[in-house]
Amino acid sequence: MQKKSYWNETVSIPARNPLAGDISIDTVIIGGGMAGILTAFLLKKKGRECIVLEAERIGGGQTGCTTAKVTSQHNLIYADLIKTKGEVLARQYAQANEAAIREYESVIRQNKIDCDWKECPAYLYADRKKTELHNEYMAALHLGIPARWTEDTELPFRVEGALRFDAQARFHPIKFLKAVSDEVTVFENTKVIKVTDNGVETDKGNVQAANIVFACHYPFVNIPGYYFMRMYQERSYVLAVKGAPPLNGVYLGVDQDSLSLRTAGELLLIGGEGHRTGEDTCGGQYGKLKSAAARWWPDSKEAYRWSAQDCMTLDKVPYIGRYSRRKQNWFVATGFQKWGMTSSMVSAMILSDMITGEKNRHEEVFSPQRHIGQDAAGNVCKESGHTAVTLTKPSGLPEDKKEKVRTTRCSHLGCHLSWNPEEKTYECPCHGSRFDCRGRVIDGPAQKDITAGGGDE
Ligand code: FES
Repeated sequence: MQKKSYWNETVSIPARNPLAGDISIDTVIIGGGMAGILTAFLLKKKGRECIVLEAERIGGGQTGCTTAKVTSQHNLIYADLIKTKGEVLARQYAQANEAAIREYESVIRQNKIDCDWKECPAYLYADRKKTELHNEYMAALHLGIPARWTEDTELPFRVEGALRFDAQARFHPIKFLKAVSDEVTVFENTKVIKVTDNGVETDKGNVQAANIVFACHYPFVNIPGYYFMRMYQERSYVLAVKGAPPLNGVYLGVDQDSLSLRTAGELLLIGGEGHRTGEDTCGGQYGKLKSAAARWWPDSKEAYRWSAQDCMTLDKVPYIGRYSRRKQNWFVATGFQKWGMTSSMVSAMILSDMITGEKNRHEEVFSPQRHIGQDAAGNVCKESGHTAVTLTKPSGLPEDKKEKVRTTRCSHLGCHLSWNPEEKTYECPCHGSRFDCRGRVIDGPAQKDITAGGGDE
């Protein structure tokens, strides 16, 4: 049984050198995951010089933890978007994601990339939430998405209804990333220390750049931008099993505790058991997924397991565009919810257009400076309240864990950390930073370790 993802276990990307000294370039991209590499790839196609700085290895972050569905079907979203943003922006969101699927196809075809790309239908299925799913169906039709309603699926359990989008896709993300990253300049093991108006300071040298792109999952500069006040993070878990019959479509249940499903080679990926980062102290997520596998695919056997971390925005739409009104040459791609692969391509298309001065017809709905509406504004207040409570309320961390780290307060903004027994990590409920059992940062926005003897609190 493996704890690394199937994607990272089955393909390795050759190592790149770290940055060696100071350089000057048109665009520097922070983050060597799918969003950063694709942005560099499209910028290069448009004739721009750019480099990617990656703190560790290409594809070593969330890109390796995805279920790699490429789809414009993003759970229950379109009925909501029509209500909160209006029909024009809801349609823009759908069209941007459809355009991203077609762009993947085009890149794969033109560059003859062998990445197990398979066009397939995507389904949302419902048991208890049939009415909500049917509303989503009506919203999709209203926006011109060729959606279909069905009660027949290839799943081994009965569903009350399912919403089908055709011409969606699945692929092997690391095979794809390996091919496109071959085309761009990446410096690995190069950690960004500080970002200034026109430059980036790293532990290996300084980069002077006209444009700076934050494609590092969670933008770690707190001010300006204030992303920490408008996002939180969630964890979810994946079990990959052998011996289950293949599924043609990719699936997501819309009810609480339902499953995300897709086939990958001879494996079935079973995802679910999500929770806000830092808010599950009981563990048992993989056990629950194993129970589901035993119930519905009794001949299956576990082959891999891994988990993912997702940035969640307050109005369900990623932040893609200018980092802040005060920083016209800083750009950001974050808040992909659970749809990192499609959103990465959307980001690359929008940001490469913005940097080269072309108008992108989908940029408005994703603008980080957008008006977020009353409901989402309520969520900002809830988030601030959540942070305030977590700053003052001790986490109930087991005593035997505390001695291995210098502090049980998060090095980002000081919230109390909690212990995730499933993953043996310290997690911050405020904005989702994670630390390993010795206190080393695994996921931001925190930048500093909390290792024992590692400096001031
Ligand atoms: Fe912000 Fe911990 S991640 S306080």
